[in-house]
Amino acid sequence: MRKALIAGNWKMNKTDPEAIELARALVAEVGQYEACDILLCPPFTSLKSVGDVIRGSKIKLGAQTMHWEKSGAFTGMVCADMLKSLGCTYVIIGHSEQRQFFGETDETVNKRTRAALANGLTPIVCVGEFLEQRESGKHEQIVRDQVIQGLKGLTSDEMKQVAIAYEPVWAIGTGKTASSQDADDMHACIRSTIEKVWNRDVAQGLVIQYGGSVKPDTIDEQMAMPNIDGALVGGAALQADSFARIVRFQ
Ligand code: G3P
Repeated sequence: MRKALIAGNWKMNKTDPEAIELARALVAEVGQYEACDILLCPPFTSLKSVGDVIRGSKIKLGAQTMHWEKSGAFTGMVCADMLKSLGCTYVIIGHSEQRQFFGETDETVNKRTRAALANGLTPIVCVGEFLEQRESGKHEQIVRDQVIQGLKGLTSDEMKQVAIAYEPVWAIGTGKTASSQDADDMHACIRSTIEKVWNRDVAQGLVIQYGGSVKPDTIDEQMAMPNIDGALVGGAALQADSFARIVRFQ
């Protein structure tokens, strides 16, 4: 019922020529692949050129964040209209690196999510706990709060356009993945939270991706879990062969 979504978050990597080369290789490898949705989120500087390369393929384009305002004096930021004009249909919101380094809070996540939805972009709302929060047994409460605050006020119809990415902070870029069972338990917890606040229909339709050191040799087991509906991939999305293998999970 839920179509898997495999997304590459390129973070602050790839010059424009490098981005074009990677996008071309992916179009050649998985450009017509339809068993899952495939999304590339290059840096802002390469949205235009990656968008040009993937045009006509099944691969979709997304940005790594956006401002909630429509336009104006917000140096350094971009708005939904700018992203849409380059062909973006998705935007990552609330990534833990935005939370840690750029002052993102649940409140700004909520503003960005509402603005994305109001402009027809699919937000991928990121949530996840720090290691000490997991070790002290608070991880489910932390993530539940991020979900509830970040998505506060959305209607059920709006919720049907949202995806969530669970990315435990301690698993990002560290080579440590959450065990498939731990990840699935958290996804189930997110889904039941959504069911309580919205309804069963919304919860059952919600795509929940896992992120955090996803690799070709972890993806098959992760995707076999009942509540894991895709992956948000960082490091392993920077090479065409490894990302293509993740896209072709078994
Ligand atoms: O958004 C993807 C992410 O934060 C995971 O990064 O490098 O651990 O796959 P990585």
